[in-house]
Amino acid sequence: MIVELDDVWKIYRVGRISYSALRGVNLSVEEGEMLAVVGPSGSGKTTLLNIVGTLDRPTEGRVSLAGHEISGLPSSRLAEMRNGIVGFIFQTFNLIGHLSIEKNVELPAIAAGVPSSERHARVRALLEELGLISHIGKRPLELSGGEQQRVAMARALMNNPKLILADEPTGNLDSTNALAVVDLLRRIKEERGVTVMLVTHNMELVKYADRVARMRDGRVIEVTAA
Ligand SMILES: Nc1ncnc2c1ncn2[C@@H]1O[C@H](COP(=O)(O)OP(=O)(O)OP(=O)(O)O)[C@@H](O)[C@H]1O
Ligand SMILES: [Mg+2]
Repeated sequence: MIVELDDVWKIYRVGRISYSALRGVNLSVEEGEMLAVVGPSGSGKTTLLNIVGTLDRPTEGRVSLAGHEISGLPSSRLAEMRNGIVGFIFQTFNLIGHLSIEKNVELPAIAAGVPSSERHARVRALLEELGLISHIGKRPLELSGGEQQRVAMARALMNNPKLILADEPTGNLDSTNALAVVDLLRRIKEERGVTVMLVTHNMELVKYADRVARMRDGRVIEVTAA
């Protein structure tokens, strides 16, 4: 299992009020599978992905990522694991507007200390692979939404992650581009053996996954074949 959650709780405290965003999540994700995560707004999907990706910590429970129990690790070690193991893709692309496409894709490798010649070779190879090489010198807003999301995918792949966490990556795209993004995720999974966790509200896209985890009220209530 690349991801295992055992009775994971996340309790947010805002002033004197506390709110349980996750209420005892149990979930295992197999290496190389594409798991769709679905559920109503507020059911805890983003909270779950943030915890799996070490952007946030659980209040209670055990989380293991690529065989490492991460709940007790210091932040510096978590950041290292995040950089080396996880690639993120977001609904709003989260590209840096004043940097070129090339620099945006290169950033995770700079953070990981990859030497510059190797970084540049990797950026070019990824942009070729994703059909973006002609845009290398542009800035994000000079690209279409679908192209921007492909740049974000190239960035997510830069450090050869084992796990891609995609939180509604198609939420800002039309149906053609949405399908293209999920198709590409599927191809990446098949060609590289990368595990994908994909949050989506689009039931058409769920079919591309191997399994579906349904969330409600902070719990994973069932996991079925897609
Ligand atoms: N930082 C926070 N502080 C307080 N409450 C939070 C925080 N982040 C999330 N929550 C609450 O936790 C619950 C779960 O939020 P989460 O963002 O995980 O839902 P979601 O399933 O991703 O919803 P959506 O489909 O709308 O993106 C929500 O009720 C939300 O208001
Ligand atoms: Mg969300």
